Amino acid sequence: MDREKLKADIKEIVEEWKTKEGNLIMILHKIENRYGYVPREVSFEISKLLDVPLARIYEVITFYNYFKLEPPGKHTVAVCMGTACYLKGGAELLSELEHILGVKEDETTKDGLFHLEIVRCLGCCGLAPVIKIDGKVFGELKKNDIIDILSHYTKQNGQMVSGVGSEVSGKP
Ligand code: FES
Repeated sequence: MDREKLKADIKEIVEEWKTKEGNLIMILHKIENRYGYVPREVSFEISKLLDVPLARIYEVITFYNYFKLEPPGKHTVAVCMGTACYLKGGAELLSELEHILGVKEDETTKDGLFHLEIVRCLGCCGLAPVIKIDGKVFGELKKNDIIDILSHYTKQNGQMVSGVGSEVSGKP
């Protein structure tokens, strides 16, 4: 990320909101919408420009689930842990994803390709257990389907699925 551009962006956003009520949250929202997360250096800059302690900024960021401190992955993998999916093996799918990707909930893989999330019901319980990658839902899954699904996305990006020794043929 271009530091100078980042500084200019923050300055512009802070100027716009400086005198308005509830400005800290609004500024953080604007940053989150623009970058998909709140970069660390942005919090320092906001702290300086608004004259608000850094601790207060982190308090707000960590209180609201909406704000992220890490850059989002290129593909968001949402595992459903709603009742229907949980009862039909959602937890197994989750642990397989954690194992293959080497991340936990709300973390992004080192290569920036996948971000793992847990959701409560995707509204298609008849297909349980399901996961959703970006906008696409994969239903009636077994643990062994996960690797094929992920490899489809890694192939698109010319990479191998991390955590396995060789390239895997893609399904879906
Ligand atoms: S519980 Fe998973 S889709 Fe409803």
